[in-house]
Amino acid sequence: MSSKLDVVLGLQWGDEGKGKIVDVLAGRYPAVARFQGGPNAGHSLHFDGKSFVVRSIPSGIFREGSINIIGSGVVLDPVTFQEECGNVSAMGVNPKEKVVISKKAHLILPTHRLLDAAYEAAAGKGKIGSTLKGIGPTYTDKVGRHGLRVGDILAPDFKERFAKLKGRHLRLLADLGFECDPDRDEAAWMEATEFLKEFELVDCEYFVDGLLKGDKPILAEGAQGSMLDVDFGSYPFVTSSSTTVGGVCTGLGLAPSRVGKVFGIFKAYCTRVGSGPFPTELFDETGETLRRVGHEFGAVTGRPRRCGWLDLVALKYTSMIDGVTDLIMMKSDCLDDFDTIKVCTSYKVNGVETKEVPFDIAIKVEPVYTEFPGWKKDLTGMRSEAELPEEFKSYIKFIEDYIGVPVSIISLGPDREATIER
Ligand code: IMO
Ligand code: MG
Repeated sequence: MSSKLDVVLGLQWGDEGKGKIVDVLAGRYPAVARFQGGPNAGHSLHFDGKSFVVRSIPSGIFREGSINIIGSGVVLDPVTFQEECGNVSAMGVNPKEKVVISKKAHLILPTHRLLDAAYEAAAGKGKIGSTLKGIGPTYTDKVGRHGLRVGDILAPDFKERFAKLKGRHLRLLADLGFECDPDRDEAAWMEATEFLKEFELVDCEYFVDGLLKGDKPILAEGAQGSMLDVDFGSYPFVTSSSTTVGGVCTGLGLAPSRVGKVFGIFKAYCTRVGSGPFPTELFDETGETLRRVGHEFGAVTGRPRRCGWLDLVALKYTSMIDGVTDLIMMKSDCLDDFDTIKVCTSYKVNGVETKEVPFDIAIKVEPVYTEFPGWKKDLTGMRSEAELPEEFKSYIKFIEDYIGVPVSIISLGPDREATIER
C-alpha cells in the first residue's frame, strides 16, 4: 500500500496563513515538504505562547519526529537557511535531525540578490515589488541552464563553477549600471555552504517515493499564493515559481496520481503585498481597518499589505486550477466588528459582467459586490460549530456554494488551538 501526498496551497496573493495550518495539520503527517519558492516566504507559527517565522524550512519543524523536506523546486539561500537553523536550535530543536534537502534545489547566490535589486531599480515605476531575496534571478538561471544546485557543493570544482556564474552576474550588473559591492557577502555564503554539508542531501524523488511506499503520508506546503503563480497569476506581477498544484509534482518529482487532498487556504478578506492588479483593493478607512485588525504587515519585509474584500471570482479561478478538495478559511475573526461585509461575486470588464478572471486583470476591472450583515460577535474564543453565529454560518455557506467546495477548517485566531474542524 502506498500513502498519498496532500497539499496546502494559498489561493490568493500569499500570506493566507499557510504556516499556521501546516503546523496544525503536521501532527498527522510524518513528513512536510516545501516544493517551490524560497526565503521570499514567511510562514508564521504560534504555539505555547511563542511565535516563529519560517522562511525555507517547512512549517512542520516543531512537530515531534517530523521529517521536513526542502524539495527540488525550491531555491535555497544558504545564509538565510543557516540563520533560520540557528533560530530553530534556539527553540530547542535540532534542524540537522529533522531537515533533509534535495540535491536538485537551486542555490541563491549573493549576486542573485544584487541582480534582483538591480532589475527592480531599473524597472522604476513598473517594479514588481519583489522581496529582493534573489528569487527571480535564481529561477532565471535555472531555466537558462546556468544555475548551481545544492548537490554541486560536493563537487571538486564547485568554487570554479561559482566563479563562472558570479562572473556572468557581474557582467549583467555592470550592464545595468548597478552600484554595489559584489564580494561583500561571499565569505559568509561560502561558509554557509559548508554548513549545508552537515545535512542529509537527498535525491528528493526517491526520498518522497520511499516515504509514500513506506506508508508515510506527506503534506506539501505551498509558498506564496496561486494568484502569484508564474503561469496563472497576475503576470508579470507574480513570483517566478509554480505556486499552483502542478508545481507540487514538478517540485518534488511526484506523479499527479499520488496527490491526495488539496487544501486551499484563503483569508476571509484579501491582501496583496508588492505591485500589481488587485480588483477588490480598498483605499479607504475600511482598508485601513482591515490592515490594523489583521496586522497586515509583511512577515519578511515588514511592508504594509494592501487590503480589500474577499474576491470570489479569483478564488473560484484558483480553486479550479488547483483542484481544491477542501477549503480552509482564515482570519474570519478580523471581520467581527463590521456592520456589513462585502464579497466580490463578479467583475465588470469594459462594462461587461463576467465571473471569469480576464487575461489581463491589469486593465480596469470593476468588482461587483454582494453584501452580508456582519455577525458583530467575537469569534476568537469559539471552538465548536454550535457556537458560531448564524450570520457567520450563512457567509460560509455562500462561499461554499459559490466555489462548489466545502470549507472544512475555520481558523479564528493565530494560535494552533483557535481552529474549528468541521
Ligand atoms: P508567503 O509564502 C506574499 C510577492 C512579492 C512581490 C512578488 C514577487 O509568505 O505567502 P519575489 O520576491 O517572489 O520575486 O516577489 O511576489 N511575494 C509574496 N507575497 N507572500 C509571500 O509569501 C510572497 N512571496 C513573494 O511581494 O509582489
Ligand atoms: Mg508572507
